Amino acid sequence: MLALKALLPTHAGKVKCIYIDPPYNTGNEGWAYNDKVNSPMMKDWLAKTIDREDATRHDKWCCMMLPRLKLLRELMSEDGAIFVSIDDNEVQHLRCLMDEVFGEENFVANIIWEKVYSPKGTAKYFSENHDHIVCYAKGIGDFNRKLLPRTKEANARYNNPDKDPRGDWKPGDLSARNFYGDGTYSITCPGGRVIEGPPPGNYWRYSKKRLAELDADNRIWWGQDKNQVPAIKRFLSEVQDGLVPETIWTYKEVGHTQEAKKVLMELFPDDLPDFTTLKTPRLIQRILQIATDKDSLILDSFAGSGTTGHAVLKQNAEDGGTRRFILIECEEYADKITAERLRRCIKGVATAKDEKLRTGYGGSFSYFKLGAAVALQTILESKDLPTYETLAAYVFFTATGEEFNPVAIKRKTGFIGRSKGYDVYLLYTPEIEALKELALDLPTVRKLPPVKGGKDRKRLVYAPTRFMDDALLHQNGIVFAQLPYEIYERVEKAAR
Ligand SMILES: C[S@@+](CC[C@H](N)C(=O)[O-])C[C@H]1O[C@@H](n2cnc3c(N)ncnc32)[C@H](O)[C@@H]1O
Repeated sequence: MLALKALLPTHAGKVKCIYIDPPYNTGNEGWAYNDKVNSPMMKDWLAKTIDREDATRHDKWCCMMLPRLKLLRELMSEDGAIFVSIDDNEVQHLRCLMDEVFGEENFVANIIWEKVYSPKGTAKYFSENHDHIVCYAKGIGDFNRKLLPRTKEANARYNNPDKDPRGDWKPGDLSARNFYGDGTYSITCPGGRVIEGPPPGNYWRYSKKRLAELDADNRIWWGQDKNQVPAIKRFLSEVQDGLVPETIWTYKEVGHTQEAKKVLMELFPDDLPDFTTLKTPRLIQRILQIATDKDSLILDSFAGSGTTGHAVLKQNAEDGGTRRFILIECEEYADKITAERLRRCIKGVATAKDEKLRTGYGGSFSYFKLGAAVALQTILESKDLPTYETLAAYVFFTATGEEFNPVAIKRKTGFIGRSKGYDVYLLYTPEIEALKELALDLPTVRKLPPVKGGKDRKRLVYAPTRFMDDALLHQNGIVFAQLPYEIYERVEKAAR
């Protein structure tokens, strides 16, 4: 959660597609509520592994998810979408949380992923072979769902029995259930057979006149004997340039959990990490195809083995995209497994069966470790002060909720950006002795540039302290803000 907070100043409103795969709360995943909270009840939950007997396990799961979903929403762009993997342990609570955070009007789909390929004979009641992927848009009106690439199987349904010069086609139903006033006439087939009318309860889709026009254009198929119920010829060259995504995703299309494990085995042939809840890159690629542009930013804050990063690198290699990703993982293996998987995807694995993976997908990424929370006291006492730019990004976003642009910084005056209502200044220097002396006083205020662009605009000044009273600040059109109590640094560990 702290990592998501640390992203806000620089990435709020910029993420086009979020995929998350949180603990399903099955009772045997060994997850524990681990947020730093003040509520005595919730403090009591800390670090206690949640099992099936735990009567508060759903409460704990909801309390873990709700603040994260809220932060994720902040990070999404207005046309963005979020996809959440879950199973029947929590799908009902997830839908409620999503309705609350995103609004039920922004619900897009509840996708069923067929995750296993053979039934479990040992299942007590049913052999469960699906997961849910719940999808919401940030704003349904702005969400631009893409079509999926046409598959060989879909194209194979088209052929050309009458050698039509317009190419392959497939027959489409000429009747439908929707009432159509001009759709109940009898038809005489070219072979002479008379069809009295559409099937009971149905209507022809076209008027008699329109049918004749379509027939004249050789767009009606009467069968080889010219006496069958007519069908409309739907030409491959005229259908949409892709497939409308459906809500059931089979393992044939997107892989199953065993395939996910095999992919990981290819990447770690000698030291296979122990993961039981893996997803396949193909599954995440389908999400990317539906909900991203070629240059979109994708976020996964429950990264696990890093499948989402793998899928982004692979999709870019396949379609020449420049998509970027942010993955967050709180476990110790973030470097050794999550990041290592991506290093191997980029560089290639000599023993991999998949040719592209053998040579590597290419690309790059940086690995960061979340720094400790820094309280103002610590800032003043610590040797490792955040840089001016780090603090500027934090305070500007906290104060305005608007995007921070580091290019705007003018160190001479302390100007860090212009928001809708304020010119924002930061009086700060990452040197302890100088910082102790730094305060907002009248001589400093006199040196600040005047505000331009309307009498209601003000100058918002962040500083460690002030030597001016409220009246004097007001007279000078200044709003003072104490430097924030806590900031979260992002410390770059190893950039590639
Ligand atoms: C189901 S796994 C994700 C698997 C991933 N999709 C893949 O294909 O490898 C969930 C991940 O969420 C992480 N996680 C993040 N916050 C967590 C929390 N508060 N409790 C438990 N797990 C958490 C876990 O460390 C785990 O790696």
